[in-house]
Amino acid sequence: MKLFARAKLSAAALATVTLVTVSAGFVETAPAYARAPSKPQPAILNASAVAVSDKYAADAAEQIFNEGGNAVDAAVAIAFSLAVTYPEAGNIGGGGFMTLYVDGKPYFMDYRERAPLAATKNMYLDDQGNVIKGKSLFGYYAVGVPGTVAGMSEVQHRFGKLTWKQVLAPAIKYARDGFVVDEALASRREEAAKDFAGKTNFDTYFGAMKAGTTFKQPDLAAVLTRIANQGAKDFYQGKTADLIAASMRGHGLITKQDLQQYKAVWREPVQGKWNGYDVITAPPPSSGGIGLLQLLQMKADLAPDFKDVALNSPQYVHLIAEIEKRVFADRAQYLGDPDFYKVPVAQLTDPAYIARRAAEVNPNQPSDTKSVQPGLGTSMPEKAETTHFSVVDKWGNAVSNTYTLNGWFGSGVVAEGTGIVLNDEMDDFSAKPGVANMFGVVGSDANSIEPKKRPLSSMTPTIMTKDGKVSLVIGTPGGSRIFTSIFQVINNVYDFNMPLKEAVAAMRFHHQLLPPNTIFWEPYRPIDGELAQQIEAKGYNLKGQDFSGDIQAIKINGDTPDAAADPRGRGVTRLIP
Ligand code: DON
Repeated sequence: MKLFARAKLSAAALATVTLVTVSAGFVETAPAYARAPSKPQPAILNASAVAVSDKYAADAAEQIFNEGGNAVDAAVAIAFSLAVTYPEAGNIGGGGFMTLYVDGKPYFMDYRERAPLAATKNMYLDDQGNVIKGKSLFGYYAVGVPGTVAGMSEVQHRFGKLTWKQVLAPAIKYARDGFVVDEALASRREEAAKDFAGKTNFDTYFGAMKAGTTFKQPDLAAVLTRIANQGAKDFYQGKTADLIAASMRGHGLITKQDLQQYKAVWREPVQGKWNGYDVITAPPPSSGGIGLLQLLQMKADLAPDFKDVALNSPQYVHLIAEIEKRVFADRAQYLGDPDFYKVPVAQLTDPAYIARRAAEVNPNQPSDTKSVQPGLGTSMPEKAETTHFSVVDKWGNAVSNTYTLNGWFGSGVVAEGTGIVLNDEMDDFSAKPGVANMFGVVGSDANSIEPKKRPLSSMTPTIMTKDGKVSLVIGTPGGSRIFTSIFQVINNVYDFNMPLKEAVAAMRFHHQLLPPNTIFWEPYRPIDGELAQQIEAKGYNLKGQDFSGDIQAIKINGDTPDAAADPRGRGVTRLIP
């Protein structure tokens, strides 16, 4: 296997990190957000740019930019388009996070799903207190109250330049007139259908989806048209709400009351300073932003240990795994929905605390897992069911958005008469302390189930700026691999000076405390041969996983955007002059 030549750490990597953490407060907006008065902005880049998970969404974004839209308009158009053409993860039946940088200011929109009002702490346990396999993953009980439509409505009405109808138009067209299904989508559909067989109505809506053929979704076209005409109100209070509630009746927990009470919230993003850059990233209920800042700072704290260590060499893998161990120990213990549990954001991102954690890293051999965090976990294979897109416009605004159904096609439940695929986000709660979820991560009471609570996420839509100007927009799917993947690409770009496309394509690996001393590798760039032997000789077990993210990133070089779509996925990039 090809390894990158031994690279010296840049001077920047040796610089210290100062983290300025803004607590993730709850900033609720009025339902009808007044649009910010539009100031005429001079173009500062020679093109707008997108990195998105399929070509239909890129076309939608191009149309929106050509109509005079900004990055937020394009992002919302992409989100609705992917709900049609990338239905395994793009959604209006799920939720997510959006990090924005608009007119030189950072914002964060939390439109994560919430537990239904009837949810209970032990709803996935049997009489003996054991987790009932699959109950939080497949079928009606797995569904959280969706947030995507509310989130998109908030951001577009606050920051968009075009009309709401304009940004929905491309998605409506794809749903009504159809789009051509590619191989990857068809095979994901086939795989997912096996899990849902006998449990959901998935095949009624998606059974006919075949590679190379045009797939139309008339029910979804009708829903999107109603949303275009009536706004998010249709989804949460109108006919679409009635249809979702009717589908759930007798099967699942979500009622019309759940939909009526759903709120997307503006939160303060987590922010830190790293190597002269401002990192703007996801606050709780994501664990990702805190995780990413801890990873970045611990690596900077350990600069002397990383000196002359080649990228992806056995020693590099070891040091990164040591750092990741500590980050995942914190994740399991402290992280949950800040509206229900006081997440110690400031302490977790305090440079002195992180320096103390970094000092525990053993440069010579793996620390004993139990000494970092007690408890055992198992890990399931990783899947590709979330999706990320990055957008910048010529005026220097940026959007980093990650949204998800959780598993491929979520719960597999399609709300009758709507074509809306519903999520299985309830699996991101800790069904029982210490028992691992789909991503092999464990949690504590901080992430136990409660009505209206949001499950802990790893999604980490991130924007880096320097001197007030956007430098990098980045994110990926990958469950618990999300922030470790973003971390590696940021290292590749800034510490190893790799061009963006190479940085995204480079080998990635993952460690998450549990299972003990296990390094996960990916099929795209497997760890094998001599490298594998050397890593094993350091005391690690190697384990294959079937997925290691699908990074969509944009880097700004001077006044020119450079976009990269992960070669691991079917994403595309587009520059729109
Ligand atoms: O919110 C989370 O962290 C997960 N539900 C994301 C799922 C995901 O990224 C699946 N893709 N690999």
